[in-house]
Amino acid sequence: MNWSEWLDECTSTNDVAKSLAASGAPHGTWVAARRQTEGRGRASREWKSAEGNLHLSVVVRPSHPELWTWVPLSAAVAVARVAEAVTPTLAGSLRIKWPNDLLVGGKKLGGILCEGAGSGRDGYLIVGMGVNVAYAPQVPDRPTVCLSELGSKVGLEPFAESVRWSLLQEIVELERRGPQVVMDSFWRRAWHRQGDAISWSGVDGSGEGLVQGLGPAGELLVRLPDGAEKRLLSEEVSLSRATP
Ligand code: BTN
Repeated sequence: MNWSEWLDECTSTNDVAKSLAASGAPHGTWVAARRQTEGRGRASREWKSAEGNLHLSVVVRPSHPELWTWVPLSAAVAVARVAEAVTPTLAGSLRIKWPNDLLVGGKKLGGILCEGAGSGRDGYLIVGMGVNVAYAPQVPDRPTVCLSELGSKVGLEPFAESVRWSLLQEIVELERRGPQVVMDSFWRRAWHRQGDAISWSGVDGSGEGLVQGLGPAGELLVRLPDGAEKRLLSEEVSLSRATP
């Protein structure tokens, strides 16, 4: 049975992928849509996009569930690799803001929404990837950029196929070689450097501290002003001061 498909329109490709996964769709099943009527971002935000951009969700069933927390970072690396390969002007300028925002010159190029269900070997993750391929949507107070304005001529379907392949490859590498490989690829592109002052906000409140690095589960480690260490798990971060 072929579960994967391109749709003209759906609410959210994450919703469609989730219902496929709940019916037993295997690892690697994907859903792409030309338009989403209820696209979602992280922190319950709306994901504004337009036809011509990537809206793709992939069912991931990791064979090592203890590595699940690294999949959102692996996905960011996977998308970054493809965006860089199809856009020569991007070399060295694409940044990943923890955990998986793709930024170019501080403007948002893409984002990833990972949603999970179940646990252990019966569990799965839906990795929903949105990339501004052809259009930079207008979002109040959030500057955006798209690949075509950066000089890329990539078509949407080949881009989607490369992103799917790249994601599955990153997961193979994560499972074969462990998190260090993701950590290195992530950190090379990280928007925040060690020692940068950042602020964060999330369901458990907000705060400020200095970036230390990534922890064993892919969490962002931050040194608080009183010297204690804070582990950020899914908070939204912003830069207050970069290291000189
Ligand atoms: C973010 O940066 O806040 C994450 C955005 C994720 C958007 C993608 S588009 C495909 C998939 N379907 C959704 O509804 N959201 C993700």
